[in-house]
Amino acid sequence: MPRGSFITFEGGDGTGKSTQLALFLEYLQTHEIAHIFTREPGGTGIGERIRQILLDPACAEMEDMTEALLYAAARAQLAREIIRPAMDAGKLVVCDRWVDSSIVYQGLAKDLMHGRGGSEEAVRAVNAYATDGLIPDVTILLDLDPAEALGRARSADGRPDRIEAKGISYHRAVRESYLSLAEREARVRVVDAAGPPEAVHARVIDAVQQAVEITK
Ligand code: TYD
Repeated sequence: MPRGSFITFEGGDGTGKSTQLALFLEYLQTHEIAHIFTREPGGTGIGERIRQILLDPACAEMEDMTEALLYAAARAQLAREIIRPAMDAGKLVVCDRWVDSSIVYQGLAKDLMHGRGGSEEAVRAVNAYATDGLIPDVTILLDLDPAEALGRARSADGRPDRIEAKGISYHRAVRESYLSLAEREARVRVVDAAGPPEAVHARVIDAVQQAVEITK
């Protein structure tokens, strides 16, 4: 049986990742393409417990290194328990975020915000170990100007949200980091996330089809 493909979705807050993932999964269902969907941190019993630690306000004092290792630990479990077996069974695997999230959030963007460098290599090394080098066949990067992403989030619920809480310069650093990653890695396809969801969805399908064959 041929090895299944591995597709991941990435993007900053407010870029519409959840909406586009839902539309993509709907597309797979409509076309009867066998797949599994998973998310991180989480996707396994152990991963969900790690997620709770990462999101717990009582853990706000967490060291950067601890955070990076917890994301990698959740990923190690997900790779072995879910993703590898599904791919070995020839299934298409769709994952909400993967190692690129850590390279950006725990590495590049954090370095940009603190005016330092050098975290990327360490984050890469830890994650290569955690995932046994499991790299997606294609990664959809939803790209949107943070000013627009912020407007979207505001119109969604009308109150200041976690995007504003973090500050626009942080979101600019995240965007810049993702784009620099995309420049260096051909598997990362930048998809313009501006415009109506259906238009963005069509761009997502195009980008996926250019990279991998998704059929029944
Ligand atoms: P997520 O649950 O995907 O929510 P959303 O896509 O709606 O933002 O991600 C929550 C946060 O976790 C997000 O701000 C990015 C962060 N994150 C990391 O910092 N590193 C990682 O390795 C992952 C997977 C996520």
